Amino acid sequence: MGKGSGYGKVILFGEHFVVHGVPGIVSAIDSSTDAEVKKGIKGLNIKDERKTAKGYSEEKRLQQVESIERMLKAMDLDPKTPLDIWIGGTLPGFSGLGASAASSVAIARAISQELNLNLSNEKINAVAYEGEKAYAGNPSGIDNTAATYGGLMWFKKNPAGGQDFVEKIHVKRPIEIVIGSTGKVANTKAMVEGVAERKKANPKKYDPLFKQAENLAVAGRKALESGDLKKVGDLMNENHRLLQEIGVSSKELDLLVDMARKQGAFGAKLTGGGGGGCMVALTPGKDLQGKVASAFKTAGFEFLSTKIGVVTY
Ligand code: MEV
Repeated sequence: MGKGSGYGKVILFGEHFVVHGVPGIVSAIDSSTDAEVKKGIKGLNIKDERKTAKGYSEEKRLQQVESIERMLKAMDLDPKTPLDIWIGGTLPGFSGLGASAASSVAIARAISQELNLNLSNEKINAVAYEGEKAYAGNPSGIDNTAATYGGLMWFKKNPAGGQDFVEKIHVKRPIEIVIGSTGKVANTKAMVEGVAERKKANPKKYDPLFKQAENLAVAGRKALESGDLKKVGDLMNENHRLLQEIGVSSKELDLLVDMARKQGAFGAKLTGGGGGGCMVALTPGKDLQGKVASAFKTAGFEFLSTKIGVVTY
């Protein structure tokens, strides 16, 4: 049997903008998706035992099969190779946490082990990127890169399609965050396509917003590296406003973001594709983290208390 894992992630700056070549900042979180793969007899048998938001597995099933077939092709294997696949792990299947990329990396690693392919991390990342296309249409590659390598990183897509530009970001100490889930499953592909269409139709509005997103990522990196967490929070708030302007936030996301800020979070924004899914609040220190988490709990939302800047490969 082959086994593999992939990290979940939160995007601190630049989701959606990264698809169009703007830099972004992403951190892996200490929750992962695990996969086990055995050679099968007929077709793909997938046993998905992840804890998920209601309807997540059903909504993603077709994309999941397409993703695995794409990955097999990218490994120069027959896309109809019979396999028995188990998926589980500690990363919940909430939209926005990179659950699809984490599962692609986990499955690619498990297939590599089961079939003795000995794939390097670089190749696993490239294979998972192919898998991500089934979920996101035209992904930037930020999610699979975080899922493969872990850590806190600066990511810029290579518009020519070659090697992306990735750098580790170092912080003085890991920083507490709370991830709040709206409980709504979102379709990343539709969200990414929507932004691309609106950007094309209205460059006068969108071009300056994309420039602002780039400035925010640059300033966010500086603030993270110098340990100015108040500034990081302010910039995350600003980033949320840009995401609202490009039409990817939702009523529930805005509610969770407001709730976190009222409890004293340094900053809060949606994370990932939006349109449902998750938000992230920057809550340095255990006390502040607990305060925000208990507000979410009282209001009936699921959440994950974790840290950024911890996991490194
Ligand atoms: C999804 O986690 C992040 C998006 O920017 C899509 C992508 O970068 O592939 C919305």
